[in-house]
Amino acid sequence: MNTLVVRCPAKVNLHLEVLGLRADGYHEVRTLMVAVGLWDELAIFPVPGGAIEMEVSGGTLPQDNTVRRAAELLARYSGVRPGARVVLSKGIPVAAGLGGGSADGAAALVGLAHFWGLDLPRRELAALAAALGSDVPFFLEGGACWAEGRGEIVYPLPDLPPLWVVLVPGREPVPTPAVYRAWDEGHRLMGELQVGKVERETAGAHGFPRAAEALLYDWLVGGGQLPWAKLRNDLQQPAVGLFPWIGEHLRRLETSLPLLAMVSGSGGTVFGIFASQAEARNAAGGIPGAVAVPVLTREQSQLAPKRKEGACGDHRGAH
Ligand code: C5P
Repeated sequence: MNTLVVRCPAKVNLHLEVLGLRADGYHEVRTLMVAVGLWDELAIFPVPGGAIEMEVSGGTLPQDNTVRRAAELLARYSGVRPGARVVLSKGIPVAAGLGGGSADGAAALVGLAHFWGLDLPRRELAALAAALGSDVPFFLEGGACWAEGRGEIVYPLPDLPPLWVVLVPGREPVPTPAVYRAWDEGHRLMGELQVGKVERETAGAHGFPRAAEALLYDWLVGGGQLPWAKLRNDLQQPAVGLFPWIGEHLRRLETSLPLLAMVSGSGGTVFGIFASQAEARNAAGGIPGAVAVPVLTREQSQLAPKRKEGACGDHRGAH
């Protein structure tokens, strides 16, 4: 067994509609997700025996994290357990709305399947990914995707034009369940909380989900722009309500006139979209902690396990 490395990118949600609260406690959503060039790296080393060991650098993760859960799920599902030591190097902030934990889970599934010589059909990998978390299946596709259900039903879309993103980090971790609960409370107060099953949309005339075609027609079908003014995130208001500094970050980013300024997922990262690297760098330069990264194509964001160069002998602590 060779030592493997898998890099996984972050995502931002360019659009996120919350349709209602489901009987299972999740929310039915429709979202446009896109991979961006901020990365975590997983290195997988052989260990004797059947143990799964884990080490994290650059962030603190709970014991019950998506990488460990992915390893245990895959081992249980496949019946193979030759052991592995996974060293995760975090470049994506934790609990920030950038999908870092989900990306790590997807990378662990793909990396360990390769490491253990499992040739899993895509459909099975996608089902394991969905069991790990709502955003995990997106990272098996990468690029730009439309997602429905609780986010796990993923439709690949064509690559976006070569846009740049400024990411403004949050001041503290933002727990996703709290932001969804605040969304519930807001809607309950207004007597507008939909509970129960939401009808999902079927394919539209051009083969994409009907809701995606309705919102993104000019770009998807007409060869035009993304409808910047129509894109929204329904979790933005509850996130700002819970963490007012998110609103401050948004207002600050808006002064550099991005095509879109929005909270990603449930926050607290705020992002701005720019047409060029120069504009993005310029905007990021004026905001402490902000970084400018490219929107990634599907090919650039593939989770591709690679042999680690020069790896040999005892790998403990090596990263
Ligand atoms: O699926 P995942 O484990 O990433 O979701 C984390 C939490 O976010 C869920 O426990 C739930 O509170 C909330 N969530 C939700 N609706 C979604 C996705 C996540 O309510 N569509």
